[in-house]
Amino acid sequence: METIEITSNTQRVIENLDGSTLRLIYEEFSNAWAKKLQEQGNVPTFYDHIIKDGLTLFSMNISSIPWDKDIQSIISIMENFASREGIEAFISQMINWYYGRYVPYDVRVKPNEMLQTDLDVNFLKKPGRDAMFTMSQGRFECLKWKDEILFKTVYDLAMYQMLMWELKPRTIIEIGSGTGGSAVWMADLMKSYGVESKIISFDIIAPQIKYNDVTFLQGDCNEIEKVMKTKILEKMPHPWLIVEDAHVNVYGVLQHFHSLMKEGDYLIVEDSESKQDEIDRFLKDTDESYLVDAEYCDFFGHNVTCSFDSIFRKMK
Ligand SMILES: C[S@@+](CC[C@H](N)C(=O)[O-])C[C@H]1O[C@@H](n2cnc3c(N)ncnc32)[C@H](O)[C@@H]1O
Repeated sequence: METIEITSNTQRVIENLDGSTLRLIYEEFSNAWAKKLQEQGNVPTFYDHIIKDGLTLFSMNISSIPWDKDIQSIISIMENFASREGIEAFISQMINWYYGRYVPYDVRVKPNEMLQTDLDVNFLKKPGRDAMFTMSQGRFECLKWKDEILFKTVYDLAMYQMLMWELKPRTIIEIGSGTGGSAVWMADLMKSYGVESKIISFDIIAPQIKYNDVTFLQGDCNEIEKVMKTKILEKMPHPWLIVEDAHVNVYGVLQHFHSLMKEGDYLIVEDSESKQDEIDRFLKDTDESYLVDAEYCDFFGHNVTCSFDSIFRKMK
């Protein structure tokens, strides 16, 4: 049996929650975050974006933070730059990370607002989604399938597996592989469903893994016609599931696949809130051949997905 090392961090932090302890935690957290981002191939999750803002705020003001005082004095200074709730929530992320995975029950249930605050997405007064969604790709660590990182939200992970059972795609094209975990997961899922399916996943930096039924390609979305040649695409069996998740040349990429897609094929555009203009243009230029699958978009509540109004079924 694996032995688990229980550190004494929890007790130490509780007893010494002062500025100098916070500085230590901040430095360790900052280093660990940089390391894990590197392991993710520098692809940030929603959570990572907010953590980056928080760490930047601390590093920019490092010399004016009164580290020799108590935490409340530090928060008062930081309030010049962001909301109190935001600062508290960010500090709470660092402290909770520092505690580690295994925490004594009495610490866990002890009422202590500072330690139990979830990350506030309005941190730095930026508008955003609610905290639960922001952490749905994982809080600190990314979601994994076996040992592979995938950048899906937990909601999308659940949604995809239903859609893939219903659609039974024979061809899956992923635009933006990340570290390759999502393609591996899709391949395993299709195998477990007993559906013969080929997955083609491309990225400007192709993952260095090999996996049955998955072809990883190196390619640039700006040259989509060279990466996914029409002659090859024409031979790929339908139904298709196309997942746009690279966020580059979105209109051009969607147009490239459009004329080869058939009725019943699915097109999913991830992280689409910032792509609404391109999606809008694509839909108008393609004679509104696609309808939004509202069942999957709203399965966990209105647009509780990173494919904001952008899970499409080709209708004609
Ligand atoms: C969000 S990640 C993909 C995550 C993956 N689909 C998943 O669910 O785990 C976005 C990827 O797009 C890739 N990318 C960025 N620019 C690109 C381009 N011009 N062409 C192709 N891929 C690109 C990045 O290298 C990155 O791996």
